[in-house]
Amino acid sequence: MTGSRSSIMRRSGLLYGALAFVMTLLFQNCDGGFTYDPQSGLLSSAGTSGVGGTQFRITTFNSAGLVVPEGQSFQGGIEYRIVASGQNVSSAAIQWQLLNNTGACMLRPGSAPETRFVQCTASGRVSIQSTAIWDDGSTTVLVSERTTSELIVDACGASSSNRVVFRIPNGTGASAWNSTTSPVVVYVGQTLRVCNDDATAHQMRTLGSPCASQPASMARGAFYDCSIANTMNVNGATAVYNGIYDQIAGVNAAFYVRPFDGQALYADTTKTSNGQSCASCHNAFTNSAKRGSSFTGIKNAIMNNTGNMGIYNGRITDDEIRAIAFSLNQ
Ligand code: HEC
Repeated sequence: MTGSRSSIMRRSGLLYGALAFVMTLLFQNCDGGFTYDPQSGLLSSAGTSGVGGTQFRITTFNSAGLVVPEGQSFQGGIEYRIVASGQNVSSAAIQWQLLNNTGACMLRPGSAPETRFVQCTASGRVSIQSTAIWDDGSTTVLVSERTTSELIVDACGASSSNRVVFRIPNGTGASAWNSTTSPVVVYVGQTLRVCNDDATAHQMRTLGSPCASQPASMARGAFYDCSIANTMNVNGATAVYNGIYDQIAGVNAAFYVRPFDGQALYADTTKTSNGQSCASCHNAFTNSAKRGSSFTGIKNAIMNNTGNMGIYNGRITDDEIRAIAFSLNQ
């Protein structure tokens, strides 16, 4: 590769200038040639030139692969990919550096020299400098400057089999937290974690069921864990708990939570066509032969009418089967 030969020449300095000139003539004869600059003493390939610069640019992408335009901030905790491109970039040496880094940003190498990843965690600024050193020794320097924002640690976390996370949406203010048509579905035995994503403070008020009222108001970012202990105070008509609303905003700021009690459903004889329940055929809940069963396992047994279990078909909902499966796995 011509780049390595020319870099040897570069280091050797003037002493080898004349030799380089001779070599130029030799190489020109055999492989199409090099150009020799008598002023700088540099030798470089004439054909596949490793010199660029005019089209050299750096582009920033987010994790979804979309371009993050210059001037747009870096969000805390998000990793961005920076790519240098342009004519002959692959034959140039690219150097990366962070300058004026008050955003606590870190630079991570990519798979190729022209790629870097940057991630910041503080509110501040950062300048990403990319220097291309071309085969002729010339350099092109580009700087991309960004403001950076702080990494907000989300204490709330995600839902899991034992925990249902509900987030009070930003902008909720004094209105309802959710709607009657899409209540939060919970199973007895789960924890309902209510997180405040809103700019204003909130406080969950109950009639003592499924859990005690939240003792104090919570600011944005805080949460309240409510254990779904039972289905007391569930409204017969709407199937949601009565009396849950925002203590601060008042009764119109309602919160609709719909519980299912898997253990009760396991023994419920109204869900079959012949007055039986799971307990009739698989022992009482506490020593059930079907402990550890999955939603799919139970659902398939019903749909396939295994052991006449199809007596449930059309009378039990998926939510109810999920609640039973949840209980059988506690
Ligand atoms: C009429 C009796 C009867 C009722 C009621 C019944 N089952 Fe079954 N069930 C059976 C029989 C019989 C089998 C097949 C033998 C076995 O796997 O135990 C079976 C199989 C199953 C299986 C295993 C399916 C498989 O493919 O391995 C699961 C899980 C199950 N039942 C759960 C339940 C649950 C949960 C309920 C209540 C919603 C229920 N059953 C109600 C009789 C019943």
